[in-house]
Amino acid sequence: MNVLIVYSSWHGTSDKVAAYMADKLINHKVDLVNLKMHEVSHLRNYDCIILGGSIHFGSIESSVQKFYIKNLDLLLQKDLGLFICCGLDEDKESQFESAFPAQLREHSKVQGYFGGELLTEKMNFVQKLVTAQITKTGKKLSDGIDYKAIDRFLGLLAGEGNQHLIRKPN
Ligand SMILES: Cc1cc2nc3c(=O)[nH]c(=O)nc-3n(C[C@H](O)[C@H](O)[C@H](O)COP(=O)(O)O)c2cc1C
Repeated sequence: MNVLIVYSSWHGTSDKVAAYMADKLINHKVDLVNLKMHEVSHLRNYDCIILGGSIHFGSIESSVQKFYIKNLDLLLQKDLGLFICCGLDEDKESQFESAFPAQLREHSKVQGYFGGELLTEKMNFVQKLVTAQITKTGKKLSDGIDYKAIDRFLGLLAGEGNQHLIRKPN
């Protein structure tokens, strides 16, 4: 199966998530595209698309939004997995809902919340101030990347009987 993992990442969490998924998808041809740096070409050639990215200021990155708006019809014809990475564990469901339109969510085979990281060493001054406010909300924060959730997501995406196509969880 030809798989495309297409996502955006500010500070590297979604990059790590995408690389982990690519490593797990044995026996597939997997391409990774970070929309902050590259465009997707030949979307038609893929059987399965994994689309996602991180949440900032309550929204998914605009490059991800532009991608699904432009390619909505084609995405609705593919096996689709959607994911987000976010710092606020408590808000993951509502943020996921606003990240992707209903049509895509309903069509998707599997949906994932993969946790998040606050990588202050990679943030600029304003980002540090914003995340300091986030940590003061008293809301439950994500506890790093949830690799078990990624393993479950990939298992469901492969479907029953196709688990051999996924490298076993560590
Ligand atoms: C400026 C800024 C704003 C953020 N806003 C939110 C937010 O609104 N909701 C949330 O759940 N997480 C928020 N986060 C946390 C990110 O989703 C988290 O750091 C994630 O791991 C980033 O992934 P990335 O490195 O792939 O972009 C924010 C982080 C930063 C730096």
